Amino acid sequence: MIDGGTRVLGIETSCDETAAAVLRGPRDVLSSVVSSQVDLHARYGGVVPEIAGRAHVELAVPVVAEAIVAAGLRDGEIDAVAATVGPGLIGSLLVGVGTAKALALTWGVPFVGVNHLEAHLYAASLESPEVEPPMVTLLVSGGHTMLVSMEAHGRYQVMGSTVDDAAGEAFDKVARYLGLGYPGGPLIDRLATEGDRDAIAFPRAMRHDGLDFSFSGLKTSVVNYVRKHPDVSLPDVAASFQEAVVDILVAKTRAAADQAGVDTLCLGGGVAANSRLREAFLAACEADGRRGYVPSMAMCTDNAAMVAAAGWWRLHLDGPSPLDIGANPSLRL
Ligand code: KG4
Ligand code: ZN
Repeated sequence: MIDGGTRVLGIETSCDETAAAVLRGPRDVLSSVVSSQVDLHARYGGVVPEIAGRAHVELAVPVVAEAIVAAGLRDGEIDAVAATVGPGLIGSLLVGVGTAKALALTWGVPFVGVNHLEAHLYAASLESPEVEPPMVTLLVSGGHTMLVSMEAHGRYQVMGSTVDDAAGEAFDKVARYLGLGYPGGPLIDRLATEGDRDAIAFPRAMRHDGLDFSFSGLKTSVVNYVRKHPDVSLPDVAASFQEAVVDILVAKTRAAADQAGVDTLCLGGGVAANSRLREAFLAACEADGRRGYVPSMAMCTDNAAMVAAAGWWRLHLDGPSPLDIGANPSLRL
Protein backbone atom coordinates (compact mmCIF):
# COMPACT_ATOMS: atom_id res chain seq x y z
CA MET A 1 0.00 0.00 0.00
CA ILE A 2 1.39 3.34 -1.08
CA ASP A 3 0.12 6.32 0.88
CA GLY A 4 1.16 9.65 2.34
CA GLY A 5 3.15 7.87 5.06
CA THR A 6 5.20 5.66 2.71
CA ARG A 7 8.92 6.37 3.24
CA VAL A 8 10.83 6.17 -0.03
CA LEU A 9 14.63 6.12 -0.23
CA GLY A 10 15.75 7.71 -3.53
CA ILE A 11 19.17 7.12 -5.12
CA GLU A 12 20.61 9.23 -7.95
CA THR A 13 23.87 8.39 -9.76
CA SER A 14 23.16 9.23 -13.41
CA CYS A 15 26.05 11.66 -13.92
CA ASP A 16 28.54 13.25 -11.52
CA GLU A 17 26.45 13.62 -8.37
CA THR A 18 26.09 10.77 -5.88
CA ALA A 19 22.84 11.52 -4.06
CA ALA A 20 20.41 9.86 -1.66
CA ALA A 21 17.26 11.21 -0.01
CA VAL A 22 14.32 10.02 2.05
CA LEU A 23 10.77 11.25 1.45
CA ARG A 24 7.59 10.54 3.41
CA GLY A 25 4.83 10.55 0.82
CA PRO A 26 5.29 12.45 -2.44
CA ARG A 27 6.43 15.81 -1.00
CA ASP A 28 7.76 15.61 2.55
CA VAL A 29 11.59 15.61 2.29
CA LEU A 30 13.04 14.01 5.46
CA SER A 31 16.65 14.22 4.20
CA SER A 32 18.58 14.95 1.03
CA VAL A 33 22.32 14.35 0.69
CA VAL A 34 24.29 15.26 -2.45
CA SER A 35 27.97 14.53 -2.90
CA SER A 36 29.26 16.36 -5.97
CA GLN A 37 32.24 15.07 -7.93
CA VAL A 38 32.72 18.36 -9.78
CA ASP A 39 36.25 18.81 -8.36
CA LEU A 40 37.29 15.36 -9.64
CA HIS A 41 36.29 16.25 -13.22
CA ALA A 42 37.17 19.96 -13.39
CA ARG A 43 40.78 19.38 -14.46
CA TYR A 44 39.55 17.41 -17.49
CA GLY A 45 37.07 20.12 -18.55
CA GLY A 46 34.09 17.75 -18.41
CA VAL A 47 32.73 14.61 -16.78
CA VAL A 48 34.97 11.57 -17.32
CA PRO A 49 32.61 8.54 -17.28
CA GLU A 50 35.15 6.06 -15.88
CA ILE A 51 36.08 8.40 -13.01
CA ALA A 52 32.41 9.10 -12.29
CA GLY A 53 31.55 5.39 -12.09
CA ARG A 54 34.41 4.65 -9.69
CA ALA A 55 33.54 7.60 -7.46
CA HIS A 56 29.90 6.43 -7.26
CA VAL A 57 31.12 2.99 -6.10
CA GLU A 58 33.04 4.64 -3.25
CA LEU A 59 30.33 7.13 -2.31
CA ALA A 60 27.01 5.29 -2.77
CA VAL A 61 26.87 3.42 0.54
CA PRO A 62 28.13 6.29 2.77
CA VAL A 63 25.74 8.75 1.07
CA VAL A 64 22.76 6.40 1.51
CA ALA A 65 23.71 5.80 5.17
CA GLU A 66 23.95 9.55 5.77
CA ALA A 67 20.51 10.14 4.20
CA ILE A 68 18.89 7.46 6.41
CA VAL A 69 20.53 8.81 9.58
CA ALA A 70 19.69 12.43 8.68
CA ALA A 71 16.05 11.38 8.19
CA GLY A 72 16.07 10.03 11.76
CA LEU A 73 15.32 6.49 10.57
CA ARG A 74 16.85 3.03 10.95
CA ASP A 75 17.36 0.31 8.33
CA GLY A 76 13.97 -1.33 8.80
CA GLU A 77 12.03 1.90 8.48
CA ILE A 78 12.32 2.41 4.71
CA ASP A 79 9.21 1.24 2.81
CA ALA A 80 10.50 1.39 -0.80
CA VAL A 81 13.70 2.13 -2.73
CA ALA A 82 13.75 4.22 -5.93
CA ALA A 83 16.74 4.73 -8.21
CA THR A 84 17.40 6.55 -11.46
CA VAL A 85 17.60 3.93 -14.24
CA GLY A 86 18.28 6.41 -17.08
CA PRO A 87 19.10 8.44 -19.02
CA GLY A 88 22.72 8.98 -18.01
CA LEU A 89 26.17 7.39 -18.03
CA ILE A 90 25.84 3.61 -18.05
CA GLY A 91 28.69 2.92 -15.58
CA SER A 92 27.27 5.50 -13.18
CA LEU A 93 23.65 4.40 -13.49
CA LEU A 94 24.58 0.77 -12.79
CA VAL A 95 26.03 1.69 -9.39
CA GLY A 96 22.82 3.37 -8.19
CA VAL A 97 20.53 0.71 -9.67
CA GLY A 98 22.61 -2.14 -8.17
CA THR A 99 22.74 -0.46 -4.76
CA ALA A 100 18.98 0.18 -4.76
CA LYS A 101 18.08 -3.36 -5.77
CA ALA A 102 20.41 -4.85 -3.15
CA LEU A 103 18.87 -2.69 -0.41
CA ALA A 104 15.30 -3.45 -1.57
CA LEU A 105 16.03 -7.20 -1.54
CA THR A 106 17.75 -7.04 1.85
CA TRP A 107 14.91 -5.09 3.45
CA GLY A 108 12.16 -6.98 1.60
CA VAL A 109 10.62 -3.77 0.20
CA PRO A 110 9.65 -2.74 -3.36
CA PHE A 111 12.20 -1.38 -5.84
CA VAL A 112 11.12 1.19 -8.40
CA GLY A 113 13.10 2.44 -11.40
CA VAL A 114 12.84 6.17 -12.12
CA ASN A 115 13.37 8.17 -15.31
CA HIS A 116 15.80 10.99 -14.45
CA LEU A 117 13.86 13.48 -16.61
CA GLU A 118 10.59 12.62 -14.88
CA ALA A 119 12.39 13.20 -11.57
CA HIS A 120 13.37 16.75 -12.64
CA LEU A 121 9.68 17.44 -13.34
CA TYR A 122 8.91 16.79 -9.66
CA ALA A 123 11.59 19.11 -8.25
CA ALA A 124 9.38 22.22 -8.13
CA SER A 125 6.58 20.40 -6.25
CA LEU A 126 8.94 19.51 -3.38
CA GLU A 127 9.34 23.16 -2.43
CA SER A 128 5.92 24.43 -3.53
CA PRO A 129 3.30 21.82 -2.59
CA GLU A 130 0.62 23.66 -4.56
CA VAL A 131 2.38 22.77 -7.85
CA GLU A 132 0.10 20.26 -9.59
CA PRO A 133 -0.53 19.24 -13.19
CA PRO A 134 -1.65 20.42 -15.69
CA MET A 135 1.60 22.30 -16.07
CA VAL A 136 4.47 22.92 -18.48
CA THR A 137 8.10 22.54 -17.37
CA LEU A 138 11.14 23.95 -19.11
CA LEU A 139 13.83 21.36 -18.38
CA VAL A 140 17.29 22.70 -19.13
CA SER A 141 20.46 20.84 -18.13
CA GLY A 142 23.86 19.86 -19.47
CA GLY A 143 22.32 16.96 -21.38
CA HIS A 144 18.75 18.09 -22.09
CA THR A 145 16.68 21.04 -23.23
CA MET A 146 12.99 20.27 -23.42
CA LEU A 147 9.53 21.63 -22.89
CA VAL A 148 7.34 19.03 -21.23
CA SER A 149 3.64 19.26 -20.68
CA MET A 150 2.46 17.20 -17.69
CA GLU A 151 -1.28 16.69 -18.14
CA ALA A 152 -1.62 14.49 -15.05
CA HIS A 153 0.78 12.53 -12.83
CA GLY A 154 2.52 9.99 -15.05
CA ARG A 155 1.18 11.54 -18.28
CA TYR A 156 3.63 13.72 -20.22
CA GLN A 157 4.10 15.09 -23.65
CA VAL A 158 7.42 16.41 -24.91
CA MET A 159 6.39 19.58 -26.75
CA GLY A 160 9.85 20.61 -27.92
CA SER A 161 13.50 19.69 -27.51
CA THR A 162 16.90 20.65 -28.84
CA VAL A 163 17.91 19.57 -32.32
CA ASP A 164 21.64 19.89 -31.47
CA ASP A 165 23.35 21.11 -28.27
CA ALA A 166 21.60 21.27 -24.91
CA ALA A 167 21.48 24.74 -23.32
CA GLY A 168 23.94 23.76 -20.58
CA GLU A 169 26.25 22.22 -23.17
CA ALA A 170 26.25 25.58 -25.03
CA PHE A 171 27.16 27.38 -21.78
CA ASP A 172 29.94 24.87 -21.11
CA LYS A 173 31.35 25.02 -24.66
CA VAL A 174 31.31 28.83 -24.86
CA ALA A 175 32.94 29.06 -21.41
CA ARG A 176 35.66 26.65 -22.49
CA TYR A 177 36.27 28.69 -25.66
CA LEU A 178 36.51 31.89 -23.59
CA GLY A 179 38.99 30.13 -21.28
CA LEU A 180 36.73 30.46 -18.22
CA GLY A 181 36.84 26.84 -16.96
CA TYR A 182 34.33 24.12 -16.10
CA PRO A 183 31.42 23.88 -15.47
CA GLY A 184 30.80 26.90 -17.66
CA GLY A 185 27.24 27.87 -16.72
CA PRO A 186 27.94 29.39 -13.31
CA LEU A 187 31.14 31.09 -14.62
CA ILE A 188 29.31 32.79 -17.51
CA ASP A 189 26.46 33.72 -15.17
CA ARG A 190 28.93 35.45 -12.82
CA LEU A 191 30.94 37.17 -15.59
CA ALA A 192 27.72 38.38 -17.25
CA THR A 193 26.82 40.47 -14.20
CA GLU A 194 29.73 42.79 -15.16
CA GLY A 195 28.75 43.00 -18.85
CA ASP A 196 26.14 44.64 -21.07
CA ARG A 197 23.58 42.14 -22.35
CA ASP A 198 22.70 44.40 -25.30
CA ALA A 199 26.32 44.89 -26.38
CA ILE A 200 26.31 42.21 -29.09
CA ALA A 201 23.22 41.05 -31.04
CA PHE A 202 23.86 37.31 -31.23
CA PRO A 203 21.36 35.36 -33.39
CA ARG A 204 18.21 33.82 -31.91
CA ALA A 205 17.89 30.61 -33.95
CA MET A 206 14.37 29.28 -34.60
CA ARG A 207 12.88 31.85 -32.19
CA HIS A 208 9.54 32.00 -34.01
CA ASP A 209 9.78 28.54 -35.49
CA GLY A 210 7.98 25.85 -33.46
CA LEU A 211 8.96 24.65 -29.99
CA ASP A 212 12.29 22.99 -30.80
CA PHE A 213 15.59 24.62 -29.88
CA SER A 214 18.97 24.97 -31.60
CA PHE A 215 22.06 26.33 -29.82
CA SER A 216 24.90 25.11 -32.00
CA GLY A 217 24.77 28.12 -34.38
CA LEU A 218 24.79 30.55 -31.46
CA LYS A 219 27.93 28.92 -30.06
CA THR A 220 29.60 29.25 -33.50
CA SER A 221 28.54 32.93 -33.70
CA VAL A 222 30.22 33.61 -30.36
CA VAL A 223 33.43 31.92 -31.53
CA ASN A 224 33.42 33.85 -34.84
CA TYR A 225 32.68 37.15 -33.12
CA VAL A 226 35.54 36.79 -30.63
CA ARG A 227 37.94 35.78 -33.43
CA LYS A 228 36.98 38.89 -35.42
CA HIS A 229 37.07 41.20 -32.37
CA PRO A 230 39.94 39.95 -30.21
CA ASP A 231 39.76 43.03 -27.94
CA VAL A 232 36.05 42.65 -27.14
CA SER A 233 35.06 42.81 -23.47
CA LEU A 234 34.54 39.23 -22.24
CA PRO A 235 31.83 40.25 -19.75
CA ASP A 236 29.91 41.78 -22.71
CA VAL A 237 30.28 38.53 -24.68
CA ALA A 238 29.11 36.48 -21.67
CA ALA A 239 26.14 38.76 -20.99
CA SER A 240 25.07 38.95 -24.67
CA PHE A 241 25.44 35.20 -25.20
CA GLN A 242 23.48 34.47 -22.02
CA GLU A 243 20.78 36.93 -23.08
CA ALA A 244 20.37 35.16 -26.43
CA VAL A 245 19.96 31.76 -24.71
CA VAL A 246 17.53 33.13 -22.12
CA ASP A 247 15.52 35.03 -24.74
CA ILE A 248 14.96 31.85 -26.79
CA LEU A 249 14.18 29.70 -23.72
CA VAL A 250 11.62 32.15 -22.35
CA ALA A 251 9.97 32.86 -25.73
CA LYS A 252 9.47 29.14 -26.42
CA THR A 253 8.22 28.48 -22.89
CA ARG A 254 5.55 31.16 -23.33
CA ALA A 255 4.54 29.67 -26.68
CA ALA A 256 4.34 26.18 -25.12
CA ALA A 257 2.16 27.47 -22.28
CA ASP A 258 -0.18 29.13 -24.81
CA GLN A 259 -0.36 25.93 -26.85
CA ALA A 260 -0.99 23.67 -23.83
CA GLY A 261 -3.43 26.18 -22.30
CA VAL A 262 -1.88 25.93 -18.82
CA ASP A 263 -1.33 28.62 -16.21
CA THR A 264 1.35 26.80 -14.20
CA LEU A 265 4.95 26.91 -15.42
CA CYS A 266 8.02 25.35 -13.78
CA LEU A 267 11.76 25.49 -14.36
CA GLY A 268 14.06 22.53 -13.81
CA GLY A 269 17.57 21.22 -14.52
CA GLY A 270 21.01 22.69 -13.83
CA VAL A 271 20.63 25.69 -16.16
CA ALA A 272 17.59 26.75 -14.12
CA ALA A 273 20.19 27.95 -11.62
CA ASN A 274 21.02 30.76 -14.10
CA SER A 275 20.21 34.09 -12.48
CA ARG A 276 19.11 35.84 -15.69
CA LEU A 277 16.91 32.91 -16.74
CA ARG A 278 15.20 32.86 -13.34
CA GLU A 279 14.57 36.60 -13.50
CA ALA A 280 13.29 36.62 -17.11
CA PHE A 281 11.15 33.49 -16.60
CA LEU A 282 9.40 34.95 -13.54
CA ALA A 283 8.93 38.32 -15.27
CA ALA A 284 7.31 36.60 -18.27
CA CYS A 285 5.00 34.58 -15.98
CA GLU A 286 3.94 37.73 -14.17
CA ALA A 287 3.34 39.63 -17.41
CA ASP A 288 1.20 36.75 -18.75
CA GLY A 289 -0.72 36.20 -15.50
CA ARG A 290 0.68 32.71 -14.97
CA ARG A 291 2.06 31.06 -11.84
CA GLY A 292 5.80 30.51 -12.31
CA TYR A 293 7.80 28.21 -10.07
CA VAL A 294 11.58 28.31 -9.87
CA PRO A 295 13.11 25.72 -7.52
CA SER A 296 16.08 26.56 -5.29
CA MET A 297 19.53 25.94 -6.77
CA ALA A 298 19.83 22.69 -4.78
CA MET A 299 16.57 21.41 -6.25
CA CYS A 300 17.41 22.54 -9.83
CA THR A 301 20.61 20.50 -10.01
CA ASP A 302 20.72 16.71 -9.70
CA ASN A 303 19.49 15.42 -6.34
CA ALA A 304 17.75 12.32 -5.00
CA ALA A 305 14.74 13.99 -3.37
CA MET A 306 13.23 14.46 -6.83
CA VAL A 307 14.03 10.80 -7.63
CA ALA A 308 12.22 9.63 -4.49
CA ALA A 309 9.23 11.86 -5.40
CA ALA A 310 9.01 10.46 -8.93
CA GLY A 311 9.46 6.98 -7.41
CA TRP A 312 6.54 7.53 -5.02
CA TRP A 313 4.28 8.51 -7.94
CA ARG A 314 5.44 5.55 -10.08
CA LEU A 315 4.73 3.16 -7.20
CA HIS A 316 1.35 4.79 -6.66
CA LEU A 317 0.42 4.62 -10.36
CA ASP A 318 2.08 1.40 -11.60
CA GLY A 319 3.44 -0.49 -8.58
CA PRO A 320 7.02 -1.78 -8.16
CA SER A 321 9.45 -2.41 -11.03
CA PRO A 322 10.60 -5.97 -11.71
CA LEU A 323 14.08 -6.62 -10.28
CA ASP A 324 15.38 -7.58 -13.72
CA ILE A 325 14.96 -4.11 -15.24
CA GLY A 326 18.34 -2.70 -16.09
CA ALA A 327 19.91 0.72 -16.47
CA ASN A 328 19.13 2.42 -19.80
CA PRO A 329 21.54 5.23 -20.75
CA SER A 330 19.26 6.53 -23.51
CA LEU A 331 15.90 6.21 -21.74
CA ARG A 332 13.32 8.75 -23.01
CA LEU A 333 10.38 10.39 -21.32
O1 KG4 B 1 21.10 19.21 -14.29
P1 KG4 B 1 22.59 19.28 -14.17
O2 KG4 B 1 23.17 19.48 -12.80
O3 KG4 B 1 23.27 18.01 -14.77
C1 KG4 B 1 22.84 17.42 -15.96
O4 KG4 B 1 23.29 17.88 -17.02
O5 KG4 B 1 21.99 16.49 -15.85
O6 KG4 B 1 23.07 20.47 -15.16
C2 KG4 B 1 24.42 20.81 -15.34
C3 KG4 B 1 24.49 21.94 -16.35
C4 KG4 B 1 25.89 22.30 -16.79
O7 KG4 B 1 25.92 22.40 -18.20
C5 KG4 B 1 26.14 23.66 -16.13
O8 KG4 B 1 27.03 24.48 -16.87
C6 KG4 B 1 24.74 24.23 -16.13
O9 KG4 B 1 23.91 23.14 -15.80
N1 KG4 B 1 24.59 25.30 -15.13
C7 KG4 B 1 24.32 26.58 -15.46
C8 KG4 B 1 24.34 27.32 -14.25
N2 KG4 B 1 24.61 26.44 -13.22
C9 KG4 B 1 24.75 25.21 -13.79
N3 KG4 B 1 24.10 27.16 -16.65
C10 KG4 B 1 23.87 28.47 -16.66
N4 KG4 B 1 23.89 29.26 -15.54
C11 KG4 B 1 24.11 28.72 -14.32
N5 KG4 B 1 24.13 29.50 -13.24
ZN1 ZN C 1 19.73 16.17 -14.29
